[in-house]
Amino acid sequence: MCGIVGYIGHRDAYPIIVKGLQRLEYRGYDSAGIALYDGTDINLSKTKGKVEDLRSKSKSTISLKGSLGIGHTRWATHGVPNDVNSHPHYSNSGDLVIIHNGIIENYGSIKKALTERGYTFTSDTDTEVLVNLIEEVQKTEDVMLGQAVQIALNQVVGAYAIAVFDKKKPDEIVVAKLGSPLAIGIGENEFFIASDASPFIEFTNNAVYLKDEEMAIIRLGKEIKLRKIQNDAVAYPNILELQMNLEEIEKGGYDHFMLKEIYEQPRAILDTYRGRLLADQGLIKMVGIDQHLEKFLNANRIIIVACGTSWHAGLVAEYIFEDLARIPVEVEYASEFRYRNPVITDKDVLIAISQSGETADTLAAIKLAKEKGAFVFGVCNVVGSSIARETDAGAYTHAGPEIGVASTKAFTTQITVLTLLALKLAKEKGEFSESQFHEILTELETIPAKVEKALESNALIEIIADVYKDSPNCLYLGRGYNFPVALEGALKLKEISYIHAEGYPAAEMKHGPIALIDEHMPVIVIATKKGHYEKIVSNIQEIKSRKGKIIAIVTEGDEQVTQLADHVVEIPETSESLSPLVTTIPLQLLSYHIAVMRNCNVDQPRNLAKSVTVE
Ligand code: AGP
Repeated sequence: MCGIVGYIGHRDAYPIIVKGLQRLEYRGYDSAGIALYDGTDINLSKTKGKVEDLRSKSKSTISLKGSLGIGHTRWATHGVPNDVNSHPHYSNSGDLVIIHNGIIENYGSIKKALTERGYTFTSDTDTEVLVNLIEEVQKTEDVMLGQAVQIALNQVVGAYAIAVFDKKKPDEIVVAKLGSPLAIGIGENEFFIASDASPFIEFTNNAVYLKDEEMAIIRLGKEIKLRKIQNDAVAYPNILELQMNLEEIEKGGYDHFMLKEIYEQPRAILDTYRGRLLADQGLIKMVGIDQHLEKFLNANRIIIVACGTSWHAGLVAEYIFEDLARIPVEVEYASEFRYRNPVITDKDVLIAISQSGETADTLAAIKLAKEKGAFVFGVCNVVGSSIARETDAGAYTHAGPEIGVASTKAFTTQITVLTLLALKLAKEKGEFSESQFHEILTELETIPAKVEKALESNALIEIIADVYKDSPNCLYLGRGYNFPVALEGALKLKEISYIHAEGYPAAEMKHGPIALIDEHMPVIVIATKKGHYEKIVSNIQEIKSRKGKIIAIVTEGDEQVTQLADHVVEIPETSESLSPLVTTIPLQLLSYHIAVMRNCNVDQPRNLAKSVTVE
């Protein structure tokens, strides 16, 4: 996610844009930039770092005059965070500047075509390609900026919220939206553009939220004109009068970043497989893997190292890799692996999973493996992070910044990347027929909708949370692919509500932990249809006979467990190998609501930090 801000009106644009960018830094803070039109030319300043760094750089390098401008705070998806890759981006002529939040999937082929026509590029970004495509259309079709944007966007595949202006026509800004948010603030003879209303709520609470596939030509002194990008049909702006306050807007109207990020998971999972999962072509395309496929296929084993929630994602990956790709996998706590003098050879592949890309133990484990000759692959959420730079190759999750200390969308997007990797290797090894491969790819595409459906149980889960919010202990049970999800559910509850919780393989209960069961012990059991169902039913009966309270996560339409459990949360049916992406959702919501009811600091729990960069 990135933050975009624009202004056209009667005030100085600079202070409005810079302050607006600071309010959007929760969306991304790798780099920042601003472009201002001073009545004659465009003055542009951009820098790696935070908006504060932009403020100090721009004050000493460019004129800050002008009532037309655009600004951007970046969460890198293509191209590491540095000055050159920062937005805004000029077109080759220097007449156009653009800012963009999103991902242009087919930028490579467009860049190739533009290069053949003599265009040059200074950055590695998809955004610079887009602004030059718009320029090329403007020239070849001899059209105004609005039409050029429309024609260009009909040639791109991906997600975007863009704002672009042409210094040859400085009384307008053109914006467009598909998949990423874009709001237009409407003032008295002034317009604001932003990823959400926080940059302009102090100036106006009249706003239009563009819908997907809509664009607008914003011209001073005129009504904004909305159009459908695909067919030029006129759309009529639905002007809202916003009542939200600033803090609510930064959290997207949610009470906490954690809840917002739980609800972002359908989009985050989609963004993570966007451009990589091509189900209709029966393909998975991942540059970081395609270039090193032999390393994986010839590996003796895959070692996965991570910490905390990322370790749980690694455990899910072990089930997927061994079950589907038939590749031996072992999963290690990075903090243990780095000190236990492990046997590592150059026939090993090490996968390091880290949301922050800065976890010291994981970084140390990587360095140890590299010293021993292993090939190291990273799965990170922060582009250009230490782990991303240290690994030999990798694949980013496109979850966007995860602000809540408790990891949620990082977990599901890590599993998404690892699932794509495992499926690709399984196909390469001939473990799947074409039809089987197509079937599971098609099912993977249904996961965002299934997560959306699982989120609909939020109100029911809140009621269940109220029943158990004062429990001193809690058990989470799962089998197979959902054993790691039980561990993750327990971690979520522990770290934000401070209730002691343990995750266990359900079958392991009879080897000791069942002694803990009495009428005071809530037991959350993942009992989906496709996962050793009959066995888990027996486990539930063992607990029930000892008066344990059972909260069951079941496949919608379940009857057997529903008869036994004290509470049931239904989720859509999905295959066992993809089920962790959905079964984890109710557990995230349960821990969230219990923590809120216990007046805990959900986004910044005691004793914790978002990134553990110490050993
Ligand atoms: C998860 O909710 C925790 N915040 C924590 O366990 C986290 O997953 C762990 O510290 C690893 O962080 P990383 O993914 O950034 O490496």
